[in-house]
Amino acid sequence: MKVTVIGAGNVGATAAECIARKDMVDEVVLIDIVEGLPQGKALDMAESAPIHLFDTRVTGTNDYADTAGSDICVITAGLARKPGMSRDDLLGKNASIVKSVTEQFAKHSPNAIIIVVSNPLDVMTYVAYMASGFPSNRVMGMAGVLDTARYRSFIAAEMGVSVRDIQALLMGGHGDTMVPLPRFTTIGGIPLPELMDAEKINAIVERTKFGGGEIVKLMGTSAWYAPGAAAAEMVEAIVKDSGRVLPCAVWLNGEFGQKGIFVGAPTKLGRNGVEEVVKIDLTAAELKLMEASSEDVRNNLAALARIQSA
Ligand code: NAI
Ligand code: 2OP
Repeated sequence: MKVTVIGAGNVGATAAECIARKDMVDEVVLIDIVEGLPQGKALDMAESAPIHLFDTRVTGTNDYADTAGSDICVITAGLARKPGMSRDDLLGKNASIVKSVTEQFAKHSPNAIIIVVSNPLDVMTYVAYMASGFPSNRVMGMAGVLDTARYRSFIAAEMGVSVRDIQALLMGGHGDTMVPLPRFTTIGGIPLPELMDAEKINAIVERTKFGGGEIVKLMGTSAWYAPGAAAAEMVEAIVKDSGRVLPCAVWLNGEFGQKGIFVGAPTKLGRNGVEEVVKIDLTAAELKLMEASSEDVRNNLAALARIQSA
């Protein structure tokens, strides 16, 4: 199998490295608009293969012809958040980048599955969906895997337990209104509310919602280790046709009261991309949070339409 990663910056290079180190595909192609950057990073990664022990070929290019016949594509091209910028400030600029890279990629790999990472995530996934012309099961966004990883890491640290034993679900858009769901969070199979008081849970939920901003504030740009690893985990679920259930930004067609947008929901991943949006009954309060978060996504789509028609 062949995986293309578009954008050889912080997230793209980390995702490419994580995918290569899983030693599960034949080739990873890293592509960027900057000459020499993807070639240099790919060569560096390839030279680490005898140490990390992987046989995946890693190559870098500026030419979409080299991405031809890809099975999966991870789109990370675009601008990253700087201090004081929200994910939504990136809207117009990243939409034109994501549209252009998707069109060029899709021409050479018409049967691929696309995983979008560029922000604002839910809207950029919509942009890639429209630009590719692919069916909705072959386009999705990475956000929930990252956001639940943050949430799970905070719970593990607070409880002094292994991250391995924490399962969690988070829904909604990849923004400050994302919806962590403590009711669907377990530690070794035990529901979180049985083990942690509401005040602490609430503090962790709030920290998770602003987890991206916490890192931007610390180092002046957005995160890449956890985002790159999260994208690679989604690639792995598709490559291995594992049926893993992960929170992904997916096309909703009435599920959870949402229609015609990409937004985070529990998703079964496999060789066809989105195999199923897993339906669960949300409480009235949870549905309200999901509605508010989806409304943010719709507002961003409307803002993008305004920018594009100006
Ligand atoms: P970065 O600035 O390190 O890398 C972006 C790369 O995209 C650069 O190498 C740039 O040359 C390239 N690029 C720009 N225009 C291009 C084009 N037309 N064709 C090909 N490549 C192009 O940024 P970083 O940190 O890697 O972030 C990438 C994106 O991912 C940002 O939009 C960021 O906000 C988003 N992000 C999303 C996350 C999520 O959870 N969905 C988490 C972290 C970042
Ligand atoms: C993050 O959550 C900025 O979306 C990026 O780290």
